[in-house]
Amino acid sequence: MSEEAKGVTDTKSNDGSLLGDKQFEGSAPSASVDVSKRSQHAYFSVWDMHAYYGESYIVQGVSFNIREGEIVALLGRNGAGKTSTLRAIARLDDPQLKHGEIWLDHKPLHDMKAYQAAQNGIGLVPEDRRIIQGLTVEENLQLAQIAPPIGWSLERIYDLFPRLAERRKQEGTTLSGGEQQMLALARILARDIKLLLLDEPYEGLAPVIVHEIERTLEEIKSLGMTTIIVEQNAIAALHLADRAIILDMGEVVFDGTAQEVLDNKELRHEYLAI
Ligand SMILES: Nc1ncnc2c1ncn2[C@@H]1O[C@H](COP(=O)(O)OP(=O)(O)OP(=O)(O)O)[C@@H](O)[C@H]1O
Ligand SMILES: [Mg+2]
Repeated sequence: MSEEAKGVTDTKSNDGSLLGDKQFEGSAPSASVDVSKRSQHAYFSVWDMHAYYGESYIVQGVSFNIREGEIVALLGRNGAGKTSTLRAIARLDDPQLKHGEIWLDHKPLHDMKAYQAAQNGIGLVPEDRRIIQGLTVEENLQLAQIAPPIGWSLERIYDLFPRLAERRKQEGTTLSGGEQQMLALARILARDIKLLLLDEPYEGLAPVIVHEIERTLEEIKSLGMTTIIVEQNAIAALHLADRAIILDMGEVVFDGTAQEVLDNKELRHEYLAI
């Protein structure tokens, strides 16, 4: 069934209100929701999140907790709702969060707009990388530090990404795909973030560059950065991650260790086609 069809067959209202919305009356929390996951005390927690693009009901009651310093691979087939989940966490306008709670380090992100979520520690590296045209590498990084809270110094960033140091005067949009991915990541680290959200960091990159980005992410991991990585290259993501969450049709169908997914052929076959 298409997501549109699901939205249409859904009897729930669509008036844009948050908690207490009548579409969830009698079902909040729904029976399938593990109430133990409703935790303002976990470092990061998503509880019974429902999000829509217009009428299309896409994120359908997603709940999970993440410990500080943990790396979670958020996996699932094309269209499973991975990007939508990241976007909802980052509080972008689309998809619209209609129900649920999102807590980061005791702050209620569900009550915030995207800029406030960013100020409170969300750092989303979107799939399209969004390098700003007409600016050099260094200017892209400086722009990220225009307002507090400021994260890593440019010196520290250039230590982690020597390729960016070499190309600091080059226009960002003329970088190779892999270098643009590094710049997108560097720009986020230039801000003081608490949760790194990576949407397909290896997409469209040659294997040798994937290895380079993997090494960088390993270094970031060793620094204890709490991270959610969405990746079609599930094996690579599982090798980096401590935990895996698998989404299917906007719902969590698995939450366990990365090793469990690597060891479970049926699970991989059913939900990841690997
Ligand atoms: N702006 C939008 N308007 C309407 N529907 C959308 C929009 N963006 C995504 N969707 C739908 O939401 C569903 C989930 O999409 P999403 O991009 O979150 O999936 P995904 O798991 O990231 O997939 P992929 O692996 O292909 O990136 C899909 O059915 C998609 O068509
Ligand atoms: Mg996606």
